[in-house]
Parts: sequence; C-alpha cells; structure tokens
Amino acid sequence: MTIKIEHRGEIAVVTVDNPPVNALSQVVRQGLLEAAKALDADPSVKAIVLTCAGRTFIAGADVGEFGKPPMPPQLPDLVSRIERAAKPWVAAIHGSALGGGFEVALGCRFRVAVPSASVGLPEVRLGIVPGAGGTVRLPRLAGVESAVDMVTTGTPLGARKAHVAGLIDSLIEDDLVTGAVSFARSILDRPLPDALCDRPVAVPPVGFWEAAERTVSARAKREEAPLKALACVRRAAETDFAAAIAFERETFLTLRGSPQAAALRHVFFAERAATRPPELAGLTPCMIRSAAVIGGGTMGAGIAAALRDAGLPVILVERDDGAIERGLANVRAIFDGAAKRGRISADVAAERITGITATRDYAALADVDFTIEAVFEDLDVKRDVFARLADSCREDAILATNTSYLDPERIAERIRWPERFLGLHFFSPAHVMKLLEIVPTKATTPEVLATGFSLARMLNKIPVRAGICDGFIGNRILKITRAQAERLLLSGATPTAVDAAMRAFGLPMGPFEAQDLGGLDIAAFQRKAARARGEACFAPIADRLCAIERYGQKSGGGWYDYEPGDRTPRPSEAVAAVIAGEAKALPRRDWNENAIADCILWPMVNEGARILADGTALRPSDIDLVKIHGYGFPRWRGGPMHHAEAQGLDTVAETLRALAREGLAEPPCDRLLEAARRGGFSEVRR
Ligand code: 3HC
Ligand code: NAI
Repeated sequence: MTIKIEHRGEIAVVTVDNPPVNALSQVVRQGLLEAAKALDADPSVKAIVLTCAGRTFIAGADVGEFGKPPMPPQLPDLVSRIERAAKPWVAAIHGSALGGGFEVALGCRFRVAVPSASVGLPEVRLGIVPGAGGTVRLPRLAGVESAVDMVTTGTPLGARKAHVAGLIDSLIEDDLVTGAVSFARSILDRPLPDALCDRPVAVPPVGFWEAAERTVSARAKREEAPLKALACVRRAAETDFAAAIAFERETFLTLRGSPQAAALRHVFFAERAATRPPELAGLTPCMIRSAAVIGGGTMGAGIAAALRDAGLPVILVERDDGAIERGLANVRAIFDGAAKRGRISADVAAERITGITATRDYAALADVDFTIEAVFEDLDVKRDVFARLADSCREDAILATNTSYLDPERIAERIRWPERFLGLHFFSPAHVMKLLEIVPTKATTPEVLATGFSLARMLNKIPVRAGICDGFIGNRILKITRAQAERLLLSGATPTAVDAAMRAFGLPMGPFEAQDLGGLDIAAFQRKAARARGEACFAPIADRLCAIERYGQKSGGGWYDYEPGDRTPRPSEAVAAVIAGEAKALPRRDWNENAIADCILWPMVNEGARILADGTALRPSDIDLVKIHGYGFPRWRGGPMHHAEAQGLDTVAETLRALAREGLAEPPCDRLLEAARRGGFSEVRR
C-alpha cells in the first residue's frame, strides 16, 4: 500500500511509502488526494500528520514521469486540496523534502522536522522551475530574499537553518511521528495561522529585483531555468496568488519540455547509474578506515585533502625531507584557502592538517587500508614505488595509481598481488573536481573494483569505469579536441575565434586558453612518450610552439601573448607566423561559430563512439559524465554524446563525412553509423 492511514486518537497519520525516495508518482498523488477527502469527511479526525516511510520524506515529483504524458491528479491540485482541507495538516519531515515534496509540505499548515532533515526547491538543477506553487508559497513564508535564493540556486537548507528562517515550525529531537502527533495535538485549541495562499508577500526593497536579476544571470550563464524561477517569484510578489500560480505552472510546463531540461534529466540519471553500476550490484566493498598517498605534489596534495575531507586519517609519503615539507605546505595551502574563503573554519582546517602524517618511511604504511600513488609520470619511478608498497603494506591493502597515460597493467607487473591493484585517475585540483576514472586491470578483482567505487562515494566524487588505453576516456577525447583545434587553425581559423566559439557553446574556456593555463609542456611530454612507442600524434603547431619554448602563461606566452602580471590572452604575431608556416596542407575556408563548434565536437563524439565500441566506456552516459565533471562540458547540454543525439546522429555523421572530405576529420566510425541507424547510442548493445 503506497498510502497508509492510521489513527492516534483524534490525529490521523498518513504515511507515504513509495521507495526509494517517496517520489510523487501518479499513485502517490491519487492516494494522497483520496486520503485528504476521506479525512475531511471523518468526524473523529481533528488534524493530520503527513509522514513518509523509508529513508526520506517526499523527494519530489517523479522525474521518470517527466518525459511521459501527464496523468491526473496534477500536483498543484493536490497541494491546494491539502491547503484547503477542513483540518490542519502537519508535514513531519526526515531526510529531504525536495521539489514537489517541499511543495506538499508548504501546502500543509505546519511543518516539523528532525534536525538532520533538509528542505529545498532544487528544480533549477533539472532545468525547470517548481511546478506546484513553490515559487508562490515560499515567499509568503520565508520572504522574497530567501525565496529567490532558494529557488534560483536550488540549494537545500538544513532543518536548523530552515527553523530559524521560519520554514520549519518545530524541530523534533526524538521519534518524529510521536513528536509530530504531539505537535498536532498542541495546535488543536489554538487559532490556526492563515494558509500560505491567504498570506501576503512582503514588498522587497527598491532595486531588489534588478540586483537579483544581475546576480542570477551572472551565475546561471546560459542556463534558462534560474532566471525563469526568479521571474516566478517576482510574479508572486507582484500579482495575486491565483495569477502567480498560473504563471508558475505555465513556465514549469514550457521548461519541462525544453532541451536543457532533457539534458539535465539525462545527467541526473547518468550520475546515479554511474555511482552504483549495476554490474557491481551485490558485491561488498572492503572497509576503508585509513589511507596513504605517495607523492605530495599537485595531485597528491589534492588527493590527501579529499581523503581528509572524507574524514580518513592520511599518511603522506614523499621522497626526502624537503619534499615532505613541500607536500605538507601544498596541503596546508588547500585548507588555508578553504578557511579564507569561509568554506571551513580555521579550527577545522587545522584539524584536517593534523590528520596527515608525513614521512619518507614506507614502514609507516603497514596497517593502511588504501594507498594511492601520485608520483612522477615515469614507469620506472612508479614501479619502484609499488615494489616498496608491496613490501610494506598488508596483503589485503588496496593499491591504486593515479597515472594519466601510463598503462596500469605495466605498472602492476611486479606487484605480488596484482588483483588488489587498480587505476584511480583523479582530475586537478583533486579535492575539487568531481570526476574519478576507475580503471581496473585484467587482474583487479570485482571486490577491489567495488571498493574503488565505494571510495568515490566517500569522497563525494562521480566515478566512471574506464578501460585501459592511452588517456583512458577523458584524455583520449581531449587529444581529439586539441587535434581538431589545430586543424581549424591550419584551415583559416584563429585561436581567438576557436576559443570564442567554444565559450559561446558553453565551455568555460576555449581549447587554446585552457592549454595556456595548464601549460603546453605537459602534453608535449606525453606526445614524446607516445611517439617513442611508435604512435602518431597530430600537433604540428603545438610542437613548434614548444620548440620555441612558448609553454603558455607560465613562460609569458603560448597560444597567446601575455603581459607580465596579466592573464589576459592577446593574439600573438609569433603564433600567427607559426600557423602560416604550417598551414599548407589544408584548404582555407571561412569559419563561423557553429561550424567551429561542429568541427571540434563531432570528432569528439566519433571518438566517444569508438570508445564504446572497444569497451573503454560501458555507457554513453559515462562519457558524458567524464566530459562534464572532468573538463567543464556544459551540464545543460547533457555531455557530448547526449548533445549529439539531441542534434540528430544523422546530421553528425553527415557533417563528419563533409569534414573528412576536406581532410579536417576522420569519417564517422561504424559504431556512430550504427547508432545513427538505431536512433541513439543507448540502443546499441554489443
Ligand atoms: N524522481 C524519480 N526518481 C528519483 C527521484 C525523483 N525525484 N529522486 C531520486 N530518485 C531515484 C534515483 O534515480 C535513484 O534510483 P536508482 O536507485 O534506480 O538509481 C534512487 O531514487 C535513489 O536516489 P539517490 O541515489 O540520489 O539517493 P540518495 O539517498 O543519494 O539521495 C535524494 C536522495 C537527496 C532525494 C536525491 O535522490 C535527490 O536529490 N533527488 C532529486 C530531488 C529532486 O530533484 N526533486 C525535485 C524533482 S522535480 C519536482 O519536484 C518538480 C515539482 O516542482 C513539480
Ligand atoms: P608533481 O610533480 O606535482 O608531483 C609529484 C610528486 O611525487 C613530487 O612531490 C615528488 O617529490 C613526488 N615523488 C617522486 N618520486 C617519489 C617517490 N619515489 N616516492 C615518493 N614521492 C615521490 O606531479 P603531479 O602533477 O602531482 O602528478 C602526479 C601523478 O598524477 C602523475 O602520474 C600524473 O600523470 C598524474 N596526474 C596529474 C594530473 C595533473 O593535472 N597534474 C591529473 C591527473 C593525474
């Protein structure tokens, strides 16, 4: 039974039981509507407590229903029915009351919650606005400023803060339902507060809306929903309740069918599928109570910070005393920075740092559960480190490498228990970036692989399983991006035009600006290693720039020139001359922004299709997550594979053929053509 009613004296307790998160599917809406009618008609009932079974209060509308034809009853009608009920409803909240779930709670006359609960309207994260009165009732309860903040960012509020803000009437420290029933009894002989629909909205200060619009539009960049959500709250403040509800509903329905909402829904489900891959279902991961990081440079320090943020004690191993000092300084800089920006208190920063023991002695690792290596990208150095780890760590400890390009199989060759070894590819800065590529070798056991995913959850990362190849999923596609960017230069585009086109598409930076920031020398080093292995690497212009020591911002110039102390990229005559010197092989053509974006994106998708074909990625949506969480691909485009499907794979294939005819790209691969025939990558089963 999805909706259960029990009676505790004159209080009825309505329990929603719709696992996993009590989403408001049609059967829940119908059941609650019928309960509201029945309880109004029952003279023995004086008030109603609404609670939920399982781990959470109602987490929102059922997102899975969004792509389907609407089914009555509609959520706004249910919320109104509860709000207009003859008897007061009390929402008893644990877990999360989100989206439609919080809107139902706003329809109740009172809200009580356990202190660990949270409430919020996260709809903008799905590319929509609240659709059942959230933008209209919340400002009547919390004021316009708080409402704007909550609906335009989608950030939930913890119960304690929500209590202070007046969104929660009472915090229940003990058993929620017992406390909520007592609360309901306590209100029976008091006059009831007005329902939110009958309350006014306090007028905000002059200039509030203009300032809010500037802030929201700067934060949202090209996402549509946040500004629309702001417009809904404004409408709630400037018109009557019914008109504002109608405006909100119309906005919700329009956005629900938009490409951005489809893309963001795709990412929502992709993230959940990636976190708990069905192929690992039923496996019990190993316990992780402590961790070690080998190498305290850029990556090691970030990984150590991420492990500390997750509450694990960390041992940091470096090669000598000076490197130990530098490693600790790197980690300290991360936590001091977080404290300075107000993300953590100075005390927490100090506690995070003291939780790290730095040493050069591998004997200290005798009892560590999980070790992550982040030393120089050199096969011999890494093999040497793993030989020492194998001598020093417990036989059941898990050993991971953070290599970017080396073959984990080769790194593991001399480890005594290769089945406990895997690749964990973090992205820089490792304590911030959400992506973690998890790379099993042939020997890695499923249990060890599951523990890699479990560590990702502890670190609040998005894990994506990747097969072994040069660059795994993300950097393999990055190589294509960079090669395409150079092909564009060879055929008449400028670095400025290419970067501008990719920013216009929604990336935070264009490919050349990004290389100047990170340094051209890193990729040059990788190309050298790849060429030594006999692999071809297409980077004629980058090779020439490195030969004249133009490594990017750090050397005062790369793809652009830079004035000392100024990071503004300026077109470079020296680079133009290098391009002119190389630009003989390809015909020149005029490029506009769309054509530039196509010339970069569709070859990336073609590579993604090859990655699916050779099993380097298990799901197209995993490739999307890699590009979104590791490389800044706009979330609202859904990732390259989703974006290509949304644009039409036939069009993508046709554009690739046209580019190939001009020598500007590879033609579409078989997997892409097959997906185009079947109407999508997900339809293609190997
Ligand atoms: N609809 C459908 N399924 C949902 C869902 C929803 N709103 N929220 C979560 N789920 C599913 C997930 O897909 C997952 O399914 P799976 O087990 O098959 O993969 C399962 O519930 C568990 O979800 P999580 O893995 O995310 O569980 P957590 O415990 O980590 O997190 C949560 C729980 C905080 C509730 C999180 O799931 C969440 O944030 N959900 C989305 C909440 C949301 O966006 N609500 C607004 C919806 S839009 C809306 O309400 C419109 C309204 O205004 C009309
Ligand atoms: P880095 O040069 O900043 O740091 C490497 C650290 O390892 C140095 O502090 C060095 O002293 C230490 N080290 C070297 N040999 C050691 C040994 N035998 N024992 C203990 N410590 C030793 O390098 P970075 O950038 O942190 O890279 C580390 C690894 O992470 C490399 O494999 C790299 O490919 C990979 N990686 C780098 C990314 C990046 O953006 N920098 C992203 C993802 C992976």
